[in-house]
Amino acid sequence: RTWSSGVIFLTLNVNSRVAMWLSRCLRSQAARRRSSAAALSKCSTPRGDANWGDANRGDANVSPFRRLAGPAARASKALLFRKHGDPSKVVQLEDVDLPPIGAKDVLVKMLAAPINPSDINMIQGTYAILPDLPAVGGNEGVAQIVEVGGQVTSLRTGDWVIPKDAGLGTWRTVAVLAEDDVIALPSDIPLLSAATLGVNPCTAFRMLCDFEDLKAGDSVIQNAANSGVGQAVIQIAAARGISTINVIRDRAEFTQLSDRLKAMGGTHVIKEEALRRPDMKELFKNCPKPKLALNGVGGKSATELLRHLQYGGSMVTYGGMAKQPVTVPVSALIFKDVKVRGFWVTQWKRDHSRDGKAFRAMLDELCRLIQQGKLTPPACTEVGLQDYSRALDRATQPFTSAKQVLIL
Ligand SMILES: NC(=O)c1ccc[n+]([C@@H]2O[C@H](COP(=O)([O-])OP(=O)(O)OC[C@H]3O[C@@H](n4cnc5c(N)ncnc54)[C@H](OP(=O)(O)O)[C@@H]3O)[C@@H](O)[C@H]2O)c1
Repeated sequence: RTWSSGVIFLTLNVNSRVAMWLSRCLRSQAARRRSSAAALSKCSTPRGDANWGDANRGDANVSPFRRLAGPAARASKALLFRKHGDPSKVVQLEDVDLPPIGAKDVLVKMLAAPINPSDINMIQGTYAILPDLPAVGGNEGVAQIVEVGGQVTSLRTGDWVIPKDAGLGTWRTVAVLAEDDVIALPSDIPLLSAATLGVNPCTAFRMLCDFEDLKAGDSVIQNAANSGVGQAVIQIAAARGISTINVIRDRAEFTQLSDRLKAMGGTHVIKEEALRRPDMKELFKNCPKPKLALNGVGGKSATELLRHLQYGGSMVTYGGMAKQPVTVPVSALIFKDVKVRGFWVTQWKRDHSRDGKAFRAMLDELCRLIQQGKLTPPACTEVGLQDYSRALDRATQPFTSAKQVLIL
């Protein structure tokens, strides 16, 4: 299923009981290529529309769930936005009817889904890929397979799955998805680990693997070290014997946060301001200059990270939380020949989607770390779906140090 052939229909059950069209597709060309993005592209027709279920009419594999269950059982609660804007204002909890389960579809019960900065940006309308509206929010989360279509081969009832790509619309209780939209995880890992695995740990993993040849004893410097990405960087690096210099913003609870990041394997934890101070020289008496800098902030923070890179090292920008451009000192380019790069995990997943082996291998390795207790989820606040508005609000507040995770 692709955007252009988009034949999946959803019916919205708005308060007024007037169903609205859920329109088609993500805007970007890249997203159009992706079948996995189809889930967000689900179209709706008003209830009783003649087209509803055309895709499966006469199909012997149409799910018994669809045939036997009443209308209420086929509905999902979903967090929808009809226009871009302040998430706590434009997102609403609504009932969405499920489409029929096609032969290559799975019916899933969403279990948990985080609120990530990219979800917020998507709702605000500032992200690189945007859905046509209205759309279901959420790009990440874990679901359990409730039922499989007759031609599904890779998944079974009971499996835990996560999205393969951005744009799935994970903030809902139940969904019909294409088999190809999701990938299985072991179900013996903690729920919060599974719910937060597909974006941040994958980003951390790739950035540690793909830019510099890091060996045990090397070091990495990063800002936003208490972010989801930052906490995964700390733990994956520690599991490989790589030291991390972790930069966070100052706060009243600096010591507690520093202790927490060190307990998960962070070697050094310093305040943004300390990056500019002479005591950094002291730190580098016991720690090699980093080969790799990971920048999730931008602005001055990024410039300061660059100053501490070793000759020929790389700075990889993956986020811009300060909403400030990255300034590269001329001296860093001339005298240190630093490489200034960027990374987007969505693009990586799309580039490696053909056979899926690299994604599978990465997830297997990350799950092994989780099972060994070496990779824990970020600090999370679990929130019931009804409390979504407060959770969205909290997710946009600074210094919260905990990811809001919707328990579905
Ligand atoms: N490129 C990719 O593939 C990719 C993948 C995943 C995530 N990301 C991006 O990475 C960033 C972090 O995502 P996440 O899910 O890990 O975040 P998160 O867990 O929600 O944490 C947000 C982090 O940003 C910090 N922060 C917020 N505003 C800041 C500012 N003005 N200056 C400095 N730090 C600030 C927060 O620090 P405080 O605690 O001090 O507020 C916190 O560490 C986001 O920009 C996200 O979009 C990119």
